[in-house]
Amino acid sequence: MIPNLNEHWNAAYNAEDEQLGWFETNPLQTMKLVNACHLKKDAAILNVGAGTTTLINTLIEKGFTNIIANDISDLALKKLKDRVKKSDNYNLTCILDDLTNSTKLNQLQNIDLWIDRAVLHFFLKEDEQKSYFNLIQKIVSKNGYVLIAVFSLDGAQKCCGLDLKRYNVEMLQNSLGSDFKLIKTFNHTFINPFGGERPYIYTLFQRQS
Ligand SMILES: C[S@@+](CC[C@H](N)C(=O)[O-])C[C@H]1O[C@@H](n2cnc3c(N)ncnc32)[C@H](O)[C@@H]1O
Repeated sequence: MIPNLNEHWNAAYNAEDEQLGWFETNPLQTMKLVNACHLKKDAAILNVGAGTTTLINTLIEKGFTNIIANDISDLALKKLKDRVKKSDNYNLTCILDDLTNSTKLNQLQNIDLWIDRAVLHFFLKEDEQKSYFNLIQKIVSKNGYVLIAVFSLDGAQKCCGLDLKRYNVEMLQNSLGSDFKLIKTFNHTFINPFGGERPYIYTLFQRQS
């Protein structure tokens, strides 16, 4: 893991959740796509770059029992765990790992749903993007789903002081390859905690074989 990145994100997570530019009190858009998967409650759901997202609480409230949260920031995962512990039926596995140079996530198998909100767009180098998509190919099960919500082509150019690569649905389809079929996509402009507009593209793909 690159220590600088871990430090960068830990420094960001020193702030209260409500001060984070990407924080959402209700992960409504992501849940629209999760609901479209019609998963069993014990499906393996991996939220990559989860940070301190409220999505994990929502998934637990919906009765999902096999949830894995990953991040490169140990502080984010600690804060997430501390908050989630307060919910009933607490059940969460946390994996500290770098998505672009994985040593632990790549040991997983048969992930039924991969969820990424606002993470892929930080990977600017081709080899980082390749590692990210190779990891999906390696660990997502046959008929499994890949949900990616990322800044759209008219989205912001920076987040958390870092430059971004923005996407449209064709770029995501090309990176995933023909084995993944697009199930749903929509645009959504997130209004961040400071009132700024952040246009995203939401996509849901399903693996065919
Ligand atoms: C903009 S935040 C989004 C957090 C969360 N997905 C949400 O929607 O609230 C980006 C997250 O990606 C994590 N991250 C950045 N680079 C990463 C990497 N290489 N591997 C794993 N996580 C990473 C950061 O620590 C941060 O939590």
